[in-house]
Amino acid sequence: MSTTNSPQTLRAGMIGMGMIFDDTYRPFFEAAQTQGVYDRRFGVVEVPLVAVASRTGKRAEKYRATAAGRIAPFVSFSGDQAVDDLLKSGVQFACVASPDDRHFEASRKILEAGIHLLVEKPSVLSLAELDELQKLARERQVLAKVVYHKLLDPDHKKLRTFVADQVLQHVNNGYCSLLEPRSISGSQFAEWIQGRNPGTYVAVHYIKLIDFTFGGRLKTVTATGQRGLVGPADGPTWDSCQMRLIYDFGGREAAFDIHTSWVTPDNFPGYVEQEVQFRFDNGIWNGHSRKRGVECTVEGKTPGSIKTTLNNHYSSQFLEPWGERTQRGYGIEVLERFVREVAYVEYGGSTDRRNARLAEMAGQAYNDLAADRQTVAAVQALEVILARQAAGHPDCVVRVNDPAGGLVLYTPGDARPEILYAPAV
Ligand SMILES: NC(=O)c1ccc[n+]([C@@H]2O[C@H](COP(=O)([O-])OP(=O)(O)OC[C@H]3O[C@@H](n4cnc5c(N)ncnc54)[C@H](O)[C@@H]3O)[C@@H](O)[C@H]2O)c1
Repeated sequence: MSTTNSPQTLRAGMIGMGMIFDDTYRPFFEAAQTQGVYDRRFGVVEVPLVAVASRTGKRAEKYRATAAGRIAPFVSFSGDQAVDDLLKSGVQFACVASPDDRHFEASRKILEAGIHLLVEKPSVLSLAELDELQKLARERQVLAKVVYHKLLDPDHKKLRTFVADQVLQHVNNGYCSLLEPRSISGSQFAEWIQGRNPGTYVAVHYIKLIDFTFGGRLKTVTATGQRGLVGPADGPTWDSCQMRLIYDFGGREAAFDIHTSWVTPDNFPGYVEQEVQFRFDNGIWNGHSRKRGVECTVEGKTPGSIKTTLNNHYSSQFLEPWGERTQRGYGIEVLERFVREVAYVEYGGSTDRRNARLAEMAGQAYNDLAADRQTVAAVQALEVILARQAAGHPDCVVRVNDPAGGLVLYTPGDARPEILYAPAV
């Protein structure tokens, strides 16, 4: 329980109590409950989780029952009015971890209520939605941020450091692959998987990594995918997909392929397997989750309840050398950083400087919605290209900042471009 009497508090709301809540938000809120969040600029801030909203409320009740003593009492709302009810309960920031295609509605309501927003990746599925959220955040003078925890992975930070310092010079091309087991699509996400694809859900991590690490101007998006396992072979639900992004770097082009799947056999050794390779003018970067270090086998446990190739950097439970039980990693650190940003805006100095602090924090490109434009453009393009393919028009191409508009779809056999988004991306 709370150990200080700090008058500074940030009351938190949580929308969505699924897998990612359990992996990252839960350990963050539990640690904040005992330790608060401290920074010399604002002192100690208490961060109680005061309200949660989910579809049925079942997982919230289960959490309440198992978390007794680790988290203060919270109110749980469920059903159609859950988000509206949560926003009336006095929260100062709210996190959205509902399925991708439900982010926008909840995020819009949060910002309209003048409450700071943290939304899971992908922030939203279209540039029009992004525009609306950006506008609301500006009008209500609150932060609107998205979680891309892979940017805080130490390996990706090192990659970006080498790029920033010109150790690795001009990226020419590369690939990223992320494979999830069949259980993810078959049971974990069964409720919302109809009509969805693994690209929007996980390729977006790599879209952002490429966009943030290398800069450049997104030019072209193509994609394809496979169906028949999660849903019918001619339906709108995808087993796997492959997308290609072409970026322009002042006249030199770079191409990136991103492959994702959520139908890999449950017992494949990687469990979740992640691989990247980027080729530069003067070097090559290879990253592979199964070669990161640890491989462990436990009879009857791996790769189900314990993963064979453990990622001990993302969110892992530890017995610390000094005897304490903790859960730490970059998946949790990224949430804490957001809370620090809100705390700095609200408590980091005099009230008349709040706007300056807000602008400073909104200027952080790694998580601000204003810097998510090319990533959302790529996601919107992927969604449209796959929808066209499901409707019998494969091999479409989306061009970004084309003479015809900001996001423009070209369908083979049809000379007319379709403008998906008119303003410049
Ligand atoms: N940062 C990451 O790497 C990472 C990892 C996994 C998931 N995610 C993201 O987190 C989000 C949720 O994923 P998950 O794996 O936790 O999914 P999940 O299916 O395990 O959980 C979804 C939760 O949202 C709730 N929900 C559904 N519709 C809702 C609504 N309209 N209003 C309020 N709550 C609603 C459900 O009740 C459930 O609690 C997705 O956007 C996903 O992309 C991010």
